[in-house]
Amino acid sequence: MDQNQLKKETALAALEYIKPNTIVGVGTGSTVNFFIDGLAELDFEIKGAVSSSEASTQRMQDLGIKVFDLNEVNETIPVYVDGADESDAGLNLIKGGGGALTREKIVAACCDQFVCIADESKLVDTLGKFPLPIEVIPMAQALVARKLEAMGGQPKLREGFTTDNGNIILDIHDLQITNPLEMEKEINDIAGVVTTGIFAINAADILLLGTQKGVKKILPA
Ligand code: 5RP
Repeated sequence: MDQNQLKKETALAALEYIKPNTIVGVGTGSTVNFFIDGLAELDFEIKGAVSSSEASTQRMQDLGIKVFDLNEVNETIPVYVDGADESDAGLNLIKGGGGALTREKIVAACCDQFVCIADESKLVDTLGKFPLPIEVIPMAQALVARKLEAMGGQPKLREGFTTDNGNIILDIHDLQITNPLEMEKEINDIAGVVTTGIFAINAADILLLGTQKGVKKILPA
């Protein structure tokens, strides 16, 4: 199976976590797109979804899925389903390859359970081989870049990209993220950082990992 088929199989496995008559938290990316397509074909009704990006909102609306404004939802959202760029065995993640990290973190924080869907290439021993995305207020670009250099990283501006929130992304190369929780807090404390793509404070609860031998369910080590 190629990587796209693994992503699809994994995304469809996440549909098992969706219960009738609930609102679903929906992430962003190519794996999530397969999940959205599956949501539209469920043989039971859901109330709708809350979305982590304009792209996912558009895809869901095109398929007839109602998308709620997060601020209008006053009920429990049982499940958030999203992809990742990397996961370690503790289900700490790097996210933001698609630039939606801030909204993803907000929606994830509103949901009871975070089901991460990824193909087997995303599971790593130590986070950081994938350049860490950080959403930054534009006027703080140089300040944040200097601070990340001091932490041992090599920041690169994501050229020609603006987030749904009107900000820039710095992709930080060459970081060895051995303590994701501490590094998430440290980076989030830098003035001008909106958020970092490390998801450790709210790590995934379940990782569905697409492998050549089927979809494996992995719980935090
Ligand atoms: C977007 C993300 C995505 O979940 C991550 O980049 C994985 O994407 P894909 O499913 O396309 O491999 O964090 O901001």
